[in-house]
Amino acid sequence: MKILGISAHYHDAAAALIVDGLPVAAVQEERLSRRKNDAAFPMNAIEWCLEKGGLEPEQLDAVVFYERPMLKFDRILTCALRAFPHSWRSFPHAMKNTLAEKLWVRGIISSQLGVSRQKILFTEHHRSHAAASFLTAPVREAAILTADGVGEWASLTVGRGTRGPDGTAINLLREIRFPHSLGMLYSTFTAYLGFPVNEGEYKVMGLASYGRPTFADAVRKLVPRTQDGAFRLDLDYFDFHTTAKRSFSKKFVDIFGPPRDPFDPIDLETPDGRRFADCAASVQLVLEDILVDAARSLQRETGLTDLCLGGGVALNGVANHRLLQESGFERIFVPPAPGDAGCALGAALYADRIHFGNPDRDFPDHPFWGPAVEEGALAKLAREDRLPAQGFDDPELIERVALDLAVGRIVGWMDGALELGPRALGHRSILAAPHSAEMRDRLNRDIKHREEFRPFAPVVPIEDAERYFELPPGGKRLARFMSGVFPVRPEWRERLAAITHVDGTARVQTVDAGMAPRLYALLKAYGRVSGIPILLNTSFNLAGEPIVNRCVEGYLTFRRSGIDVLVAGQTRVTKRGMEIAA
Ligand SMILES: [Fe+2]
Repeated sequence: MKILGISAHYHDAAAALIVDGLPVAAVQEERLSRRKNDAAFPMNAIEWCLEKGGLEPEQLDAVVFYERPMLKFDRILTCALRAFPHSWRSFPHAMKNTLAEKLWVRGIISSQLGVSRQKILFTEHHRSHAAASFLTAPVREAAILTADGVGEWASLTVGRGTRGPDGTAINLLREIRFPHSLGMLYSTFTAYLGFPVNEGEYKVMGLASYGRPTFADAVRKLVPRTQDGAFRLDLDYFDFHTTAKRSFSKKFVDIFGPPRDPFDPIDLETPDGRRFADCAASVQLVLEDILVDAARSLQRETGLTDLCLGGGVALNGVANHRLLQESGFERIFVPPAPGDAGCALGAALYADRIHFGNPDRDFPDHPFWGPAVEEGALAKLAREDRLPAQGFDDPELIERVALDLAVGRIVGWMDGALELGPRALGHRSILAAPHSAEMRDRLNRDIKHREEFRPFAPVVPIEDAERYFELPPGGKRLARFMSGVFPVRPEWRERLAAITHVDGTARVQTVDAGMAPRLYALLKAYGRVSGIPILLNTSFNLAGEPIVNRCVEGYLTFRRSGIDVLVAGQTRVTKRGMEIAA
């Protein structure tokens, strides 16, 4: 059975193709259209998935959209009516967006792809999140917790999943509904702190480490707990449900002070800078507390040892670490794409296993479902540009790149198929030595052009991880897709200064030879040269651009930035003036 999953029209549009129960292709639209967080109907992604599968649209058995447009419309309409007359300005805007695109999704899919309307199915948004997490995890039975800004109505769900020879089931037991939402709470602070919503949440988490949670009690006032252990938002402090213009109210500003102007740098030496860091630390703490409580009661209720997390909130690696330590679950699974992009895959899997009742299949445990590096393309580009390029067999290439890294060169590393999800997990990465603060500053200044408080992540072979990082039981699993933030062991912090955050932590990725054999070999080679088998791993892109996909994008990024060496497949290119041998 051939099933195409689609997510679109909010942020992070994507497509995924499942054939006979197994993934064939999955890619975010932004990686092909080259527009960051592209939310448009993902025609490029769909065409690429079909091409990869060797299929024409009419050969598809089903096309599944990741949410129910009518339910979403119902939510927008209801909220606008409740907020009237306050909402009268935002309502036509919401109507236009919804009616033009979201509501007529069946018509758009049918006409754009030429598939019959009967083949087009819809899942619920949080069922897509749940499926993207549970049906890709190597577990037969698990509790499930999903949390994001909002889907149709739900913003948080808890449930359980089972799969095996007797069939697959995902039962969502309870939900919290919009406008009450942990994602909206965090996004409101993201906007208040002057960062772009849906992109800047990482920055809030990074900034939180610089502050103290002095406003935690104030944040708790915004999100009072209910008697059944859940929560609600006190809407007096918010405006996101009534207007598209501003997410926080005057009452919010009365408590926390004037919002940050996005164009003002954050200076932690000033009272305002410290206030913003304290606000970030406070909302982070309250978010963690609520998630831990929700997960703990779910653990008690289900008695299960494994938890699958989904939704954009699952990208919060600091919260995930606390969940692992305090919720009672032994292992936590976060897929590489827990946000809406991953819902394309989740929706397709949900339709396959549950709607059609097809047999259970183990999902390959890696994130590499996008276009592969084209062999020969880099050598051709470099030749045309008169830059030195050389091809090597793998052992020699890996030794040379390890030496490049050891002498302080920054390496653009392109290998195999593109990752699905927001993180570079070793196939489209910028790699560098992790030892000095100078390297971190050089990367921030010459390549990533971003705030100094944002940390870089380390990657380490799985068997070496515990030597350098304090991983609780289950930590290695959470680190597989870089989903947890863990302490760097104190004795190593000085020698790992480029990847150690101000609070002594790091967003570790553990890698084994099965998942990314060439990166694994490179880490081992670097360990032989430097004594420490760890590299700094950051996504291969410049600020404001999507992660590179094809060689030409990698090459242009290399040429426009402070990257010293570019590797694609078995070709290594260096900048002019740099000797070809390391
Ligand atoms: Fe979502």
